[in-house]
Amino acid sequence: MLKLGIIGTNFITAQFIEAALATGNYQLTTVYSRSQEKAQAVADKYQASETFTDIDRFFAEGAFEVVYIASPNSLHFQQARLAIAADKHVIVEKPAFSNPTEMANITALLSNKPHLFLFEAARHIHEPNFKVVQTAIKQLDKLQGAVLTYMKYSSRYDKFLAGEEPNIFSPSFSGGALQDLGVYVVYDAIAWFGAPEATHYYASLLPNGIDGRGTAILRYADFDVTLMVGKNATSYLPSEIYGLKETLELGNNAADLQSVKLHRGSETKVLSTPPETNPMIAEAQDFYRIITENDRAAAAENAQLSRQVNQLLYDLRRSAGIVFAADIEEQKK
Ligand SMILES: NC(=O)c1ccc[n+]([C@@H]2O[C@H](COP(=O)([O-])OP(=O)(O)OC[C@H]3O[C@@H](n4cnc5c(N)ncnc54)[C@H](OP(=O)(O)O)[C@@H]3O)[C@@H](O)[C@H]2O)c1
Repeated sequence: MLKLGIIGTNFITAQFIEAALATGNYQLTTVYSRSQEKAQAVADKYQASETFTDIDRFFAEGAFEVVYIASPNSLHFQQARLAIAADKHVIVEKPAFSNPTEMANITALLSNKPHLFLFEAARHIHEPNFKVVQTAIKQLDKLQGAVLTYMKYSSRYDKFLAGEEPNIFSPSFSGGALQDLGVYVVYDAIAWFGAPEATHYYASLLPNGIDGRGTAILRYADFDVTLMVGKNATSYLPSEIYGLKETLELGNNAADLQSVKLHRGSETKVLSTPPETNPMIAEAQDFYRIITENDRAAAAENAQLSRQVNQLLYDLRRSAGIVFAADIEEQKK
C-alpha cells in the first residue's frame, strides 16, 4: 500500500484519488490546499488523516510516500522540486513542466536521488487502447501519415470571454490549447511515430498571446502527422492513421481512444476494448507497480518519452511565438 498526498482540489484530483483507491494499492493520507475548508472536505470524503495549508509543512510533516500534483501547470516545477527535496515520489499532472529548462533542472535533481520516481500523469499512454494502436501501426501495410485531433470547448473559455483569465488560458500559468490538450496528441505522435524531423504550429492566438486553437504539422522522413487541438471549439472528427490500403480510425478523439477500428476497403475490424469508466486507473496501477517493483527500465522509458514531449511542446509553441512567464523567469536566472 502506498501512502498518497495530494496537491489541488479540483475535479481531476478527485478522479485520481478514486482511481488510486480503486486499484486497492493506495491510501490517501494527506491533503494540501490553500484553503483549510477545501482540504478538510477532501480529507473527510476519502478518509485522509492529515490536512495542510502550508506547502512547506505539507512536505516536511506529511506522512505520505508519493505526492500527486494537480495544480496549475506553472506551479508543477516548484512543487516537484519541494517533493524531491522532501524525498517523496512524484506523480505530476500533464504537462509536467513548462519548458526544457525546468525539465532539465528536475532531471538533475532526480539524478542525485536515484531511489525516487517521478512520473508525468499522461493517463492515456497507460490505457490498453493506446497499446492497441501502437501494435496496429506496426502491422499497417505502409505508414502514410496521420491526423490526430483533440478539440474540446472549455467552459472556462466562457469566463475568458467575460474578461477573466482562468489559469488554463493564462501565459502566467503556462496555459493554452497546445499545453492542455495538445500534450495528449504530442504523446501519441512521439510514442507511435518517433521524433519528427521538422515541426510548425499554426496557432489561433487569443489577445493575451495564448493559443485557443491550432494546427501543428510534424514532418517525418516519409509522411506528415497533423495535430488539431483546441479549447474554444469542439471537434467531432475521429482521428485517423493511414496505411496504403488500410486506415486506423480512433474515436472519439486521439486522447480518450474509446474505439479503435481498422478499415480495409469495405471491411472494418474493431480492435479496441471498452475503456474503464475512470481513465486514470491504468496509470495509477502502473505507477504503483513501477515503484513497488523498482522497475527502473519502465521508469526510464516513461521519463525519456516525457522529456521528448516537453521538448516538442516547447518547439511547437515557440514556432507560434507563444511565450510563458516561466520561460522569462528561466532566462533571468
Ligand atoms: N489528466 C487529466 O485528464 C487532466 C484533466 C484536467 C486537468 N489536468 C491537469 O491537472 C492540473 C490542474 O488542472 P485544473 O484544471 O484542475 O487546474 P486549476 O483548477 O486551475 O487548479 C487546480 C488546483 O490548484 C490550486 N490552485 C488554483 N489556482 C492556484 C493558484 N493561483 N496558486 C496556487 N494554487 C492554485 C487549487 O487548489 P486549492 O484551491 O485547493 O489550493 C485548484 O484546485 C493541470 O496540470 C492540468 O493540465 C489533467
